[in-house]
Amino acid sequence: MSNLITELQRRRTFGIVSHPDAGKTTLTEKLLLFGGAIQEAGAVKSNKIKKGATSDFMEIERQRGISVATSVMAFEYQGKHINILDTPGHQDFAEDTYRTLTAVDSAIVVVDVAKGVETQTEKLVSVCRMRQTPIIVFINKLDREGRDAFDLLDEIEGKLGLRLCPLSWPIGMGADFQGVYDLWSKSLLIYNQVSKQRVVEGLSFSDLSSPELVNRIGEPAAKALREELELVRGVYPEFDRDSYLSGQLQPVFFGSALNNFGVRELLNCFTEIAPSPQPKQAEERMVRPDEVKFSGFVFKIHANIDPNHRSRIAFVKVVSGTFERNTNYVHVREGKSLKFSSPMTFLASKREVVEKAYPGDIVGLPDTGLFRIGDSLTAGESLHFSGIPSFSPEHFRFINNADPLKSKQLAKGVDQLMDEGVAQLFTLVANGRKVIGTVGALQYEVIQYRLEHEYGAKCSYEPFPAYKALWIEGDLGSQLEEFQRMKARQLATDKFGRLVFLADSQFGLQLTQEKFSTLSFHEKSEF
Ligand code: G4P
Repeated sequence: MSNLITELQRRRTFGIVSHPDAGKTTLTEKLLLFGGAIQEAGAVKSNKIKKGATSDFMEIERQRGISVATSVMAFEYQGKHINILDTPGHQDFAEDTYRTLTAVDSAIVVVDVAKGVETQTEKLVSVCRMRQTPIIVFINKLDREGRDAFDLLDEIEGKLGLRLCPLSWPIGMGADFQGVYDLWSKSLLIYNQVSKQRVVEGLSFSDLSSPELVNRIGEPAAKALREELELVRGVYPEFDRDSYLSGQLQPVFFGSALNNFGVRELLNCFTEIAPSPQPKQAEERMVRPDEVKFSGFVFKIHANIDPNHRSRIAFVKVVSGTFERNTNYVHVREGKSLKFSSPMTFLASKREVVEKAYPGDIVGLPDTGLFRIGDSLTAGESLHFSGIPSFSPEHFRFINNADPLKSKQLAKGVDQLMDEGVAQLFTLVANGRKVIGTVGALQYEVIQYRLEHEYGAKCSYEPFPAYKALWIEGDLGSQLEEFQRMKARQLATDKFGRLVFLADSQFGLQLTQEKFSTLSFHEKSEF
């Protein structure tokens, strides 16, 4: 087998998604410990913005520094090369997370056993589901009092639209938590409340009627476990890898990341079932990972690592072939040939120059402003990868130039910040005024601060009454022309010149949709 095939088959590139505080950072850290990528707990700095610090600007800058270090965390485990892509949980950075999810081949969703499904979990899972990303669910904090397992699974299925298949099952919870039964390896994992650790390494129990079970966990718990497992078998489908891989079935594990309980079982199952790098659709054709020629796409741009230089790093996911240092590749949108002398990989919190990277890997390319999210880089072929859509922002404001002598700097700054994906720029069709749309209100501060400090430009904002941006699809000759005439005040173009309707309210949108029923209104830019 060629080196390329061997390397790509052992790659597992995934993201962990959760609502803040469910335990994503803790789980990431435990996975890295297993992989030997870090030696002690606490080595992975949380990239989340601590509660109460949302308006503290220096905190944001500090966090941005951390989040570049944790953008990709790679480690080796049982012969597999695992890349964890970091996904900020804070909702103000949700857009960044949405885009990162376009670069993963699978995802682990962490749910807090007491809190159940939370808002960010819903949003992020819906983005995964759009792409049929294979998902494993990890229910965390079993050492705490939480919800009944069946109720919780019901809620997850209902709210997230998933079809679950438990691969482990909890025995008690909180103060009564005794461990989990691992249905995948048919073994009992006992949790010690005192030392907060696993005491028995996977006791094998294929026969649950064995008296040994009672000896281990006591009669009441053994009885409850038998009954519950009976119910699990009756209610939930059996695990089927193809269904998991096509996003139709989601395995569930229970555990406690903090106590490192159930994490190894999750990781073992993950390495066995999770997909290696998948083919990716380009406008021109489907690109397979085992193709010899290199291709990749930019899914994230991180700027201003050193505030004295306007430096950025473009994160490229390798889709096919082998990426090599000091080799000419084509930046398709610009039609330019580029060579990279210091591409980077990220290992836990270390950055290193990389000589070669394979499908599934993430390469960080130093960039002076050439790249934009979604750009393709190839060995020569003209490929435009799709599936990196923009999503409707949730906040909208007019942006004005506050220093007339610096209008060029402002235009350049806004342009580059939008390329980076900090926010989206809409230009009103009626009068050419610029509106900035963001996922979180915090972004307006970030933009203002960065325009001033990196570009020497000043801006001010004014409210713009919109609640959502909808990308419009309709054929000329349909109702499109009438729509454009009647709704001119609410129409804009996005950065790529696509037509966008800025709806002022849900009600207004509904009325418009009813009136122009032959047009399609999309909440994302690709449909
Ligand atoms: P996040 O990245 O998803 O936002 O969550 P993070 O891992 O930072 O975890 C949020 C809080 O939940 C942390 O406590 C963490 O220690 C705790 N936690 C994570 N897993 C478990 C678990 O299995 N059991 C219990 N009981 N707690 C867990 P914190 O007090 O907010 O932060 P810290 O001071 O401990 O860092």
